[in-house]
Amino acid sequence: MELRLKERLGRKFDEEIRFFKGWIDGPKQVGAIIPTSSVTAKRMASVIDTASGLPVLELGPGTGVITKAILKAGTAPQDLVSIEYSTDFYQHLTQTFHGVNFINGDAFDLGRTLGAFKDSKFDSVISAIPMLSFPMERRIALLEDLLDRMPAGRPVMQITYGPVSPIIANPDRYKIKHYDFVVRNIPPAQLWTYTRG
Ligand SMILES: C[S@@+](CC[C@H](N)C(=O)[O-])C[C@H]1O[C@@H](n2cnc3c(N)ncnc32)[C@H](O)[C@@H]1O
Repeated sequence: MELRLKERLGRKFDEEIRFFKGWIDGPKQVGAIIPTSSVTAKRMASVIDTASGLPVLELGPGTGVITKAILKAGTAPQDLVSIEYSTDFYQHLTQTFHGVNFINGDAFDLGRTLGAFKDSKFDSVISAIPMLSFPMERRIALLEDLLDRMPAGRPVMQITYGPVSPIIANPDRYKIKHYDFVVRNIPPAQLWTYTRG
């Protein structure tokens, strides 16, 4: 086997082991046994408007599969703010993706967690937070807080594995759209977007 291919496969395996360890330590917090596929990550990042001049907010980057897709889609590292709860994942991310604004904290407490970015407007939000592990009131409160920090019409992109939107409908407050069903993901993933205005 070609050396570079061996190295790449080795790195991917390391990443899956790291992710699985995270799952052992906090199954509800991590919410999936293996990382999102690169196909799904690319679909999620496709909603970003790189010409908006606004930063992108990522929630729950884990080992960084979606972070990588966001950067590949054209967002500059300094224009990406990414919040990760697990300190192990956070340390790995800061060593792997130089220049990205990683924050080790709780996405459900944005006012505090965002620190220097607390008054920023974001172009879009790309979220892999395991919503189904949290009560519905907290999911709705997080979504509303996120939408308050974005221009009207811009999306919160959320990955989930259940058959329905992980956040209940509230047509007076926000619009929900089923964006995609990605079979090339273990398990197959549902993508939902949420917008206001
Ligand atoms: C399903 S994993 C997704 C990881 C990675 N983005 C991927 O797609 O493979 C969920 C991630 O969200 C993080 N997470 C869970 N609760 C969080 C919270 N309250 N704030 C920030 N990150 C959180 C977990 O530590 C984990 O890294």
